[in-house]
Amino acid sequence: MKLPFSESFRIKAVETIYRSTREEREKWIRDAKFNLFNLKSNQVFIDLLTDSGTGAMSDKQWSELMLGDESYAGASSYYKMKDTIKDLFGYDYFLPTHQGRAAENVLFSVLVKEGDLVPGNTHFDTTKVHIEYRKALPIDCTVNEAFDSSNNHTFKGNVDLQKLEDVLKNNPKSKIPFIIVTVTCNSSGGQPVSMQNLKDVYSMAKKYDISVLFDSARFAENAYYIKTLEKGYEDKAVKEIVSEMFLYADMMTMSSKKDAIVNMGGFIGFHSEDLFKKASVFNIMYEGYITYGGLSGRDMNALAQGLKEGIEFDYLETRIKQVAYLGQKLLDYGVPVLVPFGGHAIFVDATRFLQNIPKEEFQAQTLSIELYLEGGVRGVEIGTLLADRDPLTRENRYPDLELMRLAIPRRVYTNNHMDYVAAAVSNVYDRRNTINKGMKILYEAPIMRHFTIELERC
Ligand code: F0G
Repeated sequence: MKLPFSESFRIKAVETIYRSTREEREKWIRDAKFNLFNLKSNQVFIDLLTDSGTGAMSDKQWSELMLGDESYAGASSYYKMKDTIKDLFGYDYFLPTHQGRAAENVLFSVLVKEGDLVPGNTHFDTTKVHIEYRKALPIDCTVNEAFDSSNNHTFKGNVDLQKLEDVLKNNPKSKIPFIIVTVTCNSSGGQPVSMQNLKDVYSMAKKYDISVLFDSARFAENAYYIKTLEKGYEDKAVKEIVSEMFLYADMMTMSSKKDAIVNMGGFIGFHSEDLFKKASVFNIMYEGYITYGGLSGRDMNALAQGLKEGIEFDYLETRIKQVAYLGQKLLDYGVPVLVPFGGHAIFVDATRFLQNIPKEEFQAQTLSIELYLEGGVRGVEIGTLLADRDPLTRENRYPDLELMRLAIPRRVYTNNHMDYVAAAVSNVYDRRNTINKGMKILYEAPIMRHFTIELERC
């Protein structure tokens, strides 16, 4: 018999989770003003809100905590992180930050000014906000295939070179501080960018003398896709692929809460000493001294170890196959999901799922609430609420895709949990024609409203 695929780890510590009743969840979600971020974690049975900071650290990472050097300046933990970053990504300079958006804040404080344009594949929401907050404009140059949830294109995170060149050609260089490429592209469904595309974007950037920044939260998952899907890379080690990817970026920001499998942490990597020096000033202002930047020594140790584990092929295969396992189950149940499956999450197409709800009533949010009521599973809306209002017109921005994301934490849940999630989604799907009312807004913040929004049923 052919041996089945199986996880590349075993479990050393476990955490009890509470299986609530539907009546309890009805009350809790009303008390939470229909905002899933407002739920207490013990009101959630399976938490697929995010894969960020929710992974399970390894025995080696936990051991590294004990070895952390908590010196204010020059800690050995800083050098452990520095050496790992140089070894994997090739950057001589780096700044630790407490998480990814802090890295964006520090770097953009140096680079982004009013009136600038920042082209790239679909910008993550914190990235977009850090650009818009500075009165600059993110420009989405993702390939058109990404905006069709049923299009099976292999690299839907790719930058459309024509769209990019139109921006570069028609605007002065002084208005474009950098091009940003997000690997994998979270906002277009956890979709990878091919090595060829990274190479092409970089050579176009150099033609126009513009820098390239990688938003690298899920760089290792992107490298796994290059290895398994792109011709010529099948026999290369993930580490070699990562080294090649980063030849095509002048700098990186990273939320280490994803592919470095830590609960908190981030950093910026640079080739330019000048930029590093300028960014250091903001790091000291916002984050902390340049050799800790908002992280404890123990955090930096676990992060350095996590970066090494995050690129192990067996780990990545276990991870990506688990996400695909959930995706395939949902497809088998007839649920409209975005294909190809994302690296870190399955995205359910809420517009195709809830056809009786108009987009003005927030389809993906309505679906996420229904799923929570059904089985205590917490997903997240990646749709109109997240897209915020247009900063100028203040009208709702309706994105091309209205999605419910089910993000899978790393090394946390088993495939039995995935079976449970799939059954819960399928039950909601079976009763979709009885869901005729969506949500309306009671309160919203001016930006990043989804985190604190208050809603009621229409
Ligand atoms: N870039 C990408 C591609 C991200 O997915 C995130 C976070 C960030 C930057 C910001 O990093 O959270 O450490 O400040 N994504 C999380 C998510 C929150 O749920 O997808 P952070």
